[in-house]
Amino acid sequence: MRLALASSAALAALALAAPGGLAMAQSAAGPPVYSPPRETAKLLDGPDLAQAQRHCLTCHSADYVTTQPRGMPEAFWAGEVAKMRTAYGATIPDEDVKPLVNYLTTAYGAPTHR
Ligand code: HEC
Repeated sequence: MRLALASSAALAALALAAPGGLAMAQSAAGPPVYSPPRETAKLLDGPDLAQAQRHCLTCHSADYVTTQPRGMPEAFWAGEVAKMRTAYGATIPDEDVKPLVNYLTTAYGAPTHR
């Protein structure tokens, strides 16, 4: 009986202390600070590279482009750009599609490994 009382008092004390304790821990920690790793992949040089840098690096790394098999034809890259717009919601204006496909086909459509 004595033991039971003592432990319920301890529990009550814990319950009282917990909310304050948690709040303090949260404010001391602050919002999480996240620094992404340095980007090491780069898009190859080519016509309208700036367009690709503007439109193709906002959601993912350049690796997504550079690791595609080389020598893929224009239709492949046109399909990729269309997929980014329709399936993944890339906000690429209509007039930028042609220069992007041209860039991708010129830079990555050649069958050689660069
Ligand atoms: C709105 C966000 C967004 C933008 C902008 C975007 N992508 Fe993507 N991309 C994605 C997502 C999401 C995936 C799929 C990721 C996964 O499956 O892990 C992807 C995957 C890819 C892949 C891998 C193959 C595939 O089809 O899944 C390639 C290649 C690619 N993107 C190229 C491009 C190019 C080129 C551009 C610029 C014209 C671009 N992306 C712009 C979201 C985007």
